Amino acid sequence: MIARMATNPLPQFPPGFLWGVSTSAHQIEGAAEERDPSVWDAFTAEPGRIKDGSTAEVACDHYHRYPEDVALLAGLGVDAYRFSVSWPRVNSPGGLDFYDRLVDELCAAGVRPVPTLFHWDLPLELDWLSRDTAARFADHAAVVAERLGDRVMKWITLNEPAEHTLLGHALGAHAPGRRLLFDALPVAHHQLLAHGLAVRALRAAGAGDIGIANSHGPTWAASRRAEDVEAADFYDVLLNRLFSDPLLLGRYPEGIGELLPGDVESDLKVIAEPMDWYGVNYYQPTKVGAPEGTEIEFSGLTLPADLPFSVRELEGYPVTDFGWPVVPEALTELLVGLRERYGDRLPPVVITENGCSYEGIDDQERIAFLDGHVRALHRALEQGVDVRGYFVWSLMDNFEWAEGYARRFGLVHVDYDTLERTPKASYAWLRDALRAQARR
Ligand code: FCB
Repeated sequence: MIARMATNPLPQFPPGFLWGVSTSAHQIEGAAEERDPSVWDAFTAEPGRIKDGSTAEVACDHYHRYPEDVALLAGLGVDAYRFSVSWPRVNSPGGLDFYDRLVDELCAAGVRPVPTLFHWDLPLELDWLSRDTAARFADHAAVVAERLGDRVMKWITLNEPAEHTLLGHALGAHAPGRRLLFDALPVAHHQLLAHGLAVRALRAAGAGDIGIANSHGPTWAASRRAEDVEAADFYDVLLNRLFSDPLLLGRYPEGIGELLPGDVESDLKVIAEPMDWYGVNYYQPTKVGAPEGTEIEFSGLTLPADLPFSVRELEGYPVTDFGWPVVPEALTELLVGLRERYGDRLPPVVITENGCSYEGIDDQERIAFLDGHVRALHRALEQGVDVRGYFVWSLMDNFEWAEGYARRFGLVHVDYDTLERTPKASYAWLRDALRAQARR
């Protein structure tokens, strides 16, 4: 028996507020032999890339066990489920049938489907350095919309183009494992262009309610010294504004556009195609100071010595098993900051990911984390930010990219030998918290 932590009741959210959980295809599906390979399969096969030497060939075997997972979603009482559609699977015979079955199962269980069209598992033959990949992505979006559009609630084009650019192409910690540093910028531009083209393709296919899942986190300068503030501002441009300014303002932050290939001005018109809502993935703020001229170990990454900033340890906060600081109030700050920066150009916001990695089934720390972040979200609402939904990362423990299976983000524990699912204490907490919300 798990003792449930007694937390005070959460504040009431407005009727119609959307509660959900998130996953992604590569991290849970398995059944790798039944789809084309992705850049993640190739990367994983390279020795030393995945910390525990594992692969996602089986993962949680969600491909075969999805009815059990949908039952877990229904038991949790969420309104919606954010999952991703694997592009290589869609390209494989019978691949779309799987998503068709999943979406039917969700609808039958009263859980609204919210698919993401790209969550990092690029077909192996494609490359984001090539502009053509953007057009191919729009075709992919149209194919999926054609098949699932009659039952989908909300669409998400891309997941975290910032992390995919930074980790996959600039630092080489994720697939496809390139270490291009600032030469990775076209990857950012091509993903943003892909987003805009996909918004148009989805609309042409009759789909609506379209957004993106962008990662955001406040950047805190290490001190008030001008060199620290300047370095923090640069970091903020790279990780936050490079991806939100083009989408919401139709322009790149100063100094970036010049570094990009092609007719950037005309691409920006496509990129800024209006969205129906804006998805925010939030995990942690980052403290940044002037460069220190040494390599830095940060969150499992080795950052080169010659960057124009240095990431510093954020002291004074509890940390998750991943070492990420737990700072709920930074979520309020972030949302209020987005509202201040983008004003009426910011569409209604949905938190598309928020969560933490902790070991154990009696995961009281996860309960405290979620409780704190939901309250912080409510404070943003009280301060006038139009937030319409909150999705927990993640429904279940899964393949955490380069970390393998070592990081457990789930509300449901997965035994990777037997694939048995066991709801954690946080699952029961969220279920009860949602029951206590007056929902329509
Ligand atoms: C996000 C990713 C998601 C998961 C969480 C922990 O950056 O979108 O797939 O790995 O981090």
